[in-house]
Amino acid sequence: MSNQLCIVLDFGGQYNQLIARRVRECGVYCEIKRFDTPISEIRALNPTAIIFTGGPNSVYDPSSPHISKEIFEIGVPILGICYGCQLMAYTLGGKVESCEKSEYGKIEITQKSDSLIFKEVPEKSVVWMSHTDFVSQLPEGFSVTAKSADCPCAAFEAPEKKLYAVQFHPEVTHSEFGKQILHNFLYNVCGCTGDWVMDDFIENTVKKLREQIGDKKVILGLSGGVDSSVAAGLLSRAVGKQLTCVFVDQGLMRKDEGDFVEETFTKLFDMNFVRVNCKDKFLAALKGVTDPEQKRRIIGTEFYNVFWDKIREQGTDGFFAQGTIYPDRIESGRGNQAGHGSTAVIKTHHNMVKMPDDIKFAGTIEPLGDLFKDEVRAVGEKLGIPHDLVWRQPFPGPGLGVRIIGEITEEKIKILQEADAVFRDEIRKSGIEEQLKQFFAVLPDVRTVGVMGDHRTYDHLIAIRAVTTDDFMTADWARIPYDVLAKVSNRLCNEVEHVNRVVYDITSKPPGTVEWE
Ligand code: XMP
Repeated sequence: MSNQLCIVLDFGGQYNQLIARRVRECGVYCEIKRFDTPISEIRALNPTAIIFTGGPNSVYDPSSPHISKEIFEIGVPILGICYGCQLMAYTLGGKVESCEKSEYGKIEITQKSDSLIFKEVPEKSVVWMSHTDFVSQLPEGFSVTAKSADCPCAAFEAPEKKLYAVQFHPEVTHSEFGKQILHNFLYNVCGCTGDWVMDDFIENTVKKLREQIGDKKVILGLSGGVDSSVAAGLLSRAVGKQLTCVFVDQGLMRKDEGDFVEETFTKLFDMNFVRVNCKDKFLAALKGVTDPEQKRRIIGTEFYNVFWDKIREQGTDGFFAQGTIYPDRIESGRGNQAGHGSTAVIKTHHNMVKMPDDIKFAGTIEPLGDLFKDEVRAVGEKLGIPHDLVWRQPFPGPGLGVRIIGEITEEKIKILQEADAVFRDEIRKSGIEEQLKQFFAVLPDVRTVGVMGDHRTYDHLIAIRAVTTDDFMTADWARIPYDVLAKVSNRLCNEVEHVNRVVYDITSKPPGTVEWE
């Protein structure tokens, strides 16, 4: 890659990926590396900028992640953030102590300096702090550039050495001028030029893919999710009909979704599109099964049986492509949390598929392997992939299978698909879609008594679920306005056959999960 590079050295903080994303948003290509990456390797990568992340440790704890002094001598500007700031001071001979009063949350800092990193940042601004240690004495050659009421060294620097440090988290949106500070560091200090542009990414990747693939074939498993759809779009642009996308429709997608995926990729893109409809096979395998884990297992196993059979049928003499994205393959350097310096922790992910032993391709291609999700979406939009696919909500691999409690039958799938479609339509019309991270209907397999006209009914209950969240690790139930809920309830009971009652799930995560199974 010919782009300028910013290396984010990971000391185990929770916002590390966020730092990398912010750097990329500034138009600078960025990679996260473990804190113990050898200095020779860092030099060889020829970075333009280095950032030390935060982390949960104290620098004076001997088992905390440290770094060799040599890093400060390679001539590349460094910005230390939070733990990274303390580590810079400590390693260069300063002193770090426990705060009398820890700072957590939004804190006002005052900066009165001509520091390059505070350009266009007002004298007083709010930043996000989260620390129990602080730098009590600066190393030689450093001076303070910002303070808060409880932190005398909220920022400091040695501009001749191109070393900068901030105790707060500029990557978090609560830091009012955080992005400006990162931008200042990258552009004013490091001389970055902003050469990480999505248009260039598409052009360069298409060129590289053509060189790599030559006249061979490529097979991609398409799920209809964002990542595999964008990977398909890129590969199609690069090699057209040499690409075959295999789309397994187990009949557990949302209403009309399978047809939408097929139409999109056959009409808008040049490729071979193979759709395998296997709803009946799945229903037969799931007959009588009610245990959630067993249902998941069956759906997963059946899916890969069908998928690999189709791949064998198509031939394996070319490349196998996957929609793996950057966060799927980041190797974390999580300080003490994962026993730093011991075995590397590599995130496993459903995007990374384990191939059966008898299937051997010439190689694997991951065209999105360097991108974050928001960058994948930007590429998808530029490639002309429809908005609904590019901005698709997360959808579980087992599909509606985990939203139908108890045994899965064709009738229940139909009721849930219809109900889900009505709920989605009403949310879209109400204009609150953007505020919700995920929303869907669930069929709890409960029947209740109702009345319709003069008749008693005994029919299905539909539960609706809508959540707000940053990362899906925790989530809150969305405060959908009552009048929207009223319309949804009314339409579900009137328009969806076999539904006579609606409940709204007001459980946050934890203790609940987003999905019901
Ligand atoms: P939970 O239910 O664990 O869901 O709170 C968190 C997020 O993950 C999605 N989810 C899945 N995604 N395969 C997936 O690809 C799965 O088996 C799966 N189960 C849950 C869920 O929709 C939510 O966004």
